[in-house]
Amino acid sequence: MARAGEKREAGRRTPPPGSLPGAPAVYPPPRAFAEKARFRSMDELRALWRRSLDDPDGFWGEAAGALDWIQPFDRVLEWSPPHAQWFVGGHLNASANCLDRHVAAGFGEKRAIVWEGEPYSPGRAAEERTLTYADLLAEVSRFANALRTLGVKTGDRVGIYLPLVPEAVVAMLACARLGAAHSVVFAGFSPDALRDRLSDAGVKVLVTADGAYRRGGRVPLKANADAALEGLPAVSRVVVLRRTGEKVPMKPGRDVSWDEAVRRESAVCPPVPVDAEHALFVLYTSGTTGRPKGIVHATAGYLLSCALTMRWVFDLADEDLFWCTADVGWITGHSYVVYGPLAERATVFLYEGALNWPAPDRIWDIVERRKVTTLYTAPTAIRSFIKAGDEHVTRHDLSSLRLLGSVGEPINPEAWRWYHRVVGGERCPIVDTWWQTETGAIAVSPVPGATPAKPGSATFPLPGIATEVVDAAGEPVPAGEEGRLVLSRPWPAMLRTVHGDPGRYAEEYWSEVPGKYFTGDSAKIDEDGYLWIIGRNDDVIKVSGHRLGSAEIESALVSHPAVAEAAVVARPDPDRGSAIVAFVTLKGGGRPSEPLAQALRAHVAATIGPIARPDQVRFAGVLPKTRSGKIVRRFLRDIAAGEAPHGDASTLEDLSVLSALARDEP
Ligand code: WT7
Repeated sequence: MARAGEKREAGRRTPPPGSLPGAPAVYPPPRAFAEKARFRSMDELRALWRRSLDDPDGFWGEAAGALDWIQPFDRVLEWSPPHAQWFVGGHLNASANCLDRHVAAGFGEKRAIVWEGEPYSPGRAAEERTLTYADLLAEVSRFANALRTLGVKTGDRVGIYLPLVPEAVVAMLACARLGAAHSVVFAGFSPDALRDRLSDAGVKVLVTADGAYRRGGRVPLKANADAALEGLPAVSRVVVLRRTGEKVPMKPGRDVSWDEAVRRESAVCPPVPVDAEHALFVLYTSGTTGRPKGIVHATAGYLLSCALTMRWVFDLADEDLFWCTADVGWITGHSYVVYGPLAERATVFLYEGALNWPAPDRIWDIVERRKVTTLYTAPTAIRSFIKAGDEHVTRHDLSSLRLLGSVGEPINPEAWRWYHRVVGGERCPIVDTWWQTETGAIAVSPVPGATPAKPGSATFPLPGIATEVVDAAGEPVPAGEEGRLVLSRPWPAMLRTVHGDPGRYAEEYWSEVPGKYFTGDSAKIDEDGYLWIIGRNDDVIKVSGHRLGSAEIESALVSHPAVAEAAVVARPDPDRGSAIVAFVTLKGGGRPSEPLAQALRAHVAATIGPIARPDQVRFAGVLPKTRSGKIVRRFLRDIAAGEAPHGDASTLEDLSVLSALARDEP
């Protein structure tokens, strides 16, 4: 239901300037950090960036040496807008890049994954597992052989619906080993949402678990999967990992336990060489219109950018313990739990559960006990730590930390300064990394030993990335003015298409601003050239860093028998970035009531997942529409935020609707 021309107006949701009395506006890289960093000077960084744009073939041709190629590529880039092919003719295997080459180089005994389960009570040892690179290679090979026995072939799609356990990484890399694309679905999604994604991706085999631990409770993953697979016979085999241990029904001929599946398989499985452009995975994300879209990433360009950003942004060192708190169900988990760190032979820390379970300091307890060196998390989490109180942080020894990261939404300067002072002890640089499911890897970020940080700004584009802030006609806006953030060059980790819908790829990303990739974000560039991301400029809503589409939530609402029409908008929220407000009209005879509002909220949670539950359902007599019948969400945003509706209302069919809605305070 999103409409072009219904864009958020400029200049209204600008982040607070964040000028605390006496707080510095610019934070140069801490000297002790910079001294040991890979990149230490802005001049060096700028030269690298310049070259990447002036001589992309030379730059990327050399950079591609960060990967192990089975067959070298012939050409770096073939660009026939909006379709790019990178490293044309090259062959490689992503799992071999993440595993075999490190073992072959003598690092088989290095820890690849250190995992901790959620169940834990203070004073008792947490559940833990450590997998070396040699262990991980053996597990991945065994599971790849098992998938092959179950009928998975190069080019197939495999669904993964698992808790954050080492087997999630094993399953992803096993797919990559066979050249089968994985499609990971976050374990918080409901059966309906899982079914839509598996069906759209054309998944043949699903990997799931009996259940998942979450905040001391259990999520019935297998029951969810069974419900999702009703009416989806195309998924012919299901592998079930034992995690919570409860008894789950197994469908004969379809279901097999993980242990059973790997029992007779060899721990040797030669990696299948695939083309550089071969699809590594499909990952669903919310768009402006319609159902979630399957973002397709190509093997070489994606993996290379993940690896290089580990060096540029995270300044990865061999002895680091790298903790990205994202789930593998999101792009952040794909790129910075799995592919980036493992391609760069890092030791990854993996934690199964909620960061504040069973106590608000679980995260800091982990950092202290495990000696985490790099912590990469989301602003919404940081704001919740601030709320919980400094004492939960300061009672732990966090001196192992050397670098902090932020991702998923704008970080407000106050939260940035708190993170810097209380968590980082004013010793750790902060990398505010801007990117998207579609960009594959970090695109805009400080380089921590070089870039002077401004709290709240993602600073500058990384090598290979050309950002511009433009108006509706595609012309750059003056410094300090808000506009649309576009990327004006193809980059290796860019999405290649929308699975099964190439038209949507061209339409959603390349037609808003002709010839340029439209990010969907609003941004501005300040007088020093720093980029400030303001937020979404479309009908995508970020709630606690999770990305949801207005259209998706609306369609869940109208699937309820009482609802006639729905319009969903975001309302600014100090803790979670945005909150979801749904305006609904009821079918003839329906009467607004608090129990019905609760039922509708629950209905959305059951249809999509708890992350999509509206904060507020507001009943309306009518919704504001244009004469052609399109709902105008712009005014609803104002009303949801408690502001007077403003902007041009001349296209509205019936102006009195607005005042009625605004009066109708909940
Ligand atoms: C959207 C992409 C890519 C990692 C996780 C989110 C917002 C992301 C930042 C940042 C301001 C940010 C943008 C973007 N976003 N990082 N550092 N500062 N906004 O991936 O779910 O595809 O969401 O997240 O609005 O478009 P995603």
